[in-house]
Amino acid sequence: MAAAVYAYATHIDCLDGLAAVGHIAHRHVATRILREQYPLIGEKLLQAMKDVLQDAATEDVIAAWAEAYSALADIFIQREKAIYTQENQDDRLTGAK
Ligand code: HEM
Repeated sequence: MAAAVYAYATHIDCLDGLAAVGHIAHRHVATRILREQYPLIGEKLLQAMKDVLQDAATEDVIAAWAEAYSALADIFIQREKAIYTQENQDDRLTGAK
């Protein structure tokens, strides 16, 4: 996950090129990850950054990462919502569930 966040940071100007987003979103949907879970994971990620960076984790640095995480989480939440919606439509068409 940290690697994915780092890849996002280094590709911040060309998010369309982040092919990994679609793959990860499908993995998340397969394990039934919900949008409500993103804030807690974000908190844990930021805490881990503070633990590792220590004094280098200034308020500005942490605020920038919080903003970046939130934007990335929104991308996943939207993509995953679309996959869940598609699954529901497919289920209705096939009469599954
Ligand atoms: C922006 C936030 C997140 C990023 C960048 C991220 C990134 C990733 C990546 C790179 C993988 C591996 C995908 C693969 O199999 O190749 C993954 C899988 C997974 N993530 Fe996330 N994740 C995020 C948020 C979350 C949240 C909020 C949860 C909920 C607790 C979560 C739970 C999982 C689980 C359970 C898997 C394993 C899925 C499987 O079994 O294949 N992730 N994530």
